[in-house]
Amino acid sequence: MSGATQMQQVTNTLEHHWLPFTANRDFKADPRLLVRGEGVYYWNHKGEKLIDASSGLFCVAAGHGRPEIAEAVHAQLLECDYSPHFQVASPLSFELASRLARITPEGLNRIFFANSGSEAVDSAIKIAQAYHLARGEGQRSRFVSRERAYHGVNIGGVSLSGMIKNRHAFSAVMPGVFHMRHTWLEENRFAKGQPEKGAELAEDLKRAVDTFGGDTIAACFVEPIAGSTGVLVPPVGYLERLREICDQHGILLVFDEVICGFGRTGKAFAAQSFGVRPDMMTMAKALTNGAQPMGAVAVDEKIYDTVVNAAPEKSVELFHGYTYSGHPAACAAGIAVQDIYQREGLFERAAELTPYFQEAVFDLQDIPVVADIRGYGLLAGIEVAADGAPGARGYDVTKRLFARGMHIKFTGDSGIVSPPLVAERAHVDEICGILREVLSAY
Ligand SMILES: Cc1ncc(COP(=O)(O)O)c(C=O)c1O
Repeated sequence: MSGATQMQQVTNTLEHHWLPFTANRDFKADPRLLVRGEGVYYWNHKGEKLIDASSGLFCVAAGHGRPEIAEAVHAQLLECDYSPHFQVASPLSFELASRLARITPEGLNRIFFANSGSEAVDSAIKIAQAYHLARGEGQRSRFVSRERAYHGVNIGGVSLSGMIKNRHAFSAVMPGVFHMRHTWLEENRFAKGQPEKGAELAEDLKRAVDTFGGDTIAACFVEPIAGSTGVLVPPVGYLERLREICDQHGILLVFDEVICGFGRTGKAFAAQSFGVRPDMMTMAKALTNGAQPMGAVAVDEKIYDTVVNAAPEKSVELFHGYTYSGHPAACAAGIAVQDIYQREGLFERAAELTPYFQEAVFDLQDIPVVADIRGYGLLAGIEVAADGAPGARGYDVTKRLFARGMHIKFTGDSGIVSPPLVAERAHVDEICGILREVLSAY
């Protein structure tokens, strides 16, 4: 088939798929289709090669096209394609849970499986409620989260989220959520690593306690680094102070590690990089390297014991779960991915590449259109000065970068640079070179 015919076929079939988080009309007029991935690169339907500066959507930590993962999924589908996890189970989910328990902070060793980050967040909301109910504090129905947070798109997660556009059209969200202020401060612009100023913003949790009563709050959810909003690194002392206030008032601290988890910050989880231990952690994305949909909640064993022991013998303890919780193919992918992380030392490798990466990204700050840069580990946010409506310039930059051979996720006017952990220095140079060229043209 000629290239032109193939292209015609593709554009003829675009109308039926309503793309998520996409300007559908603009996309369908000039589609950007990714048809192949290998290592740190994608290829589009025109055969053009693009460097992947955002690991897909922060998922593909071990790089694209890993045969070990494909083979594990293939073998599992032939062996046992599906098994439910209600009252029966697949052995693989236990194996993956044990593997995860080895790398989570000590004691966060009970794993609940879901199919996405959004489902992991909603599962954590329910586990928090079940825990307080089991310990006789069922009045704790409130949650605290933060402005500019992204906790997925299900009603629970949207209620916690603080990204304006994600909430705008959806008024009927979960009640009883208090949003702390976000941690972006003008005086921290271009601060490298953890900003020095801003720890006092954690006192917003104390204000929620003072206003509503600490014993009405079930949990405080934060992304250790707010990722999707454009990488807001926690100020020095901020997460520690949240931990302190939670401890003083019996509030669970939940870290949403959907972006930060699996080496992005140079350790398995950001909780370990920042030295603050939450009571639960949500994860997804790089859990399977993006090769299968999967999310999970790592739960403190004390929470698990409390919920499980409160139920009568032979009775279901947590009335929650998904048809595809612990799907065998996703577990097979997850186990293969954990093998790769371990064998190739990818978390350590991310830590090693971090200074070079951060230096290269921060070098872009002399470009006039660049309004701010923030970063930690192999994660950086580059914010461009808005032009007209918020996000309009970010969208234009994304398209120009794609045309120049780079895939990157922009949210609003912030580009999120997070290359696969297998990237080499030369890939970092390539990414920053393309960014410089395209951003300098504004
Ligand atoms: C911190 C965080 N939580 C939750 C989610 C939602 O994950 P998913 O898109 O897999 O539902 C995301 C997605 O980017 C995220 O960054």
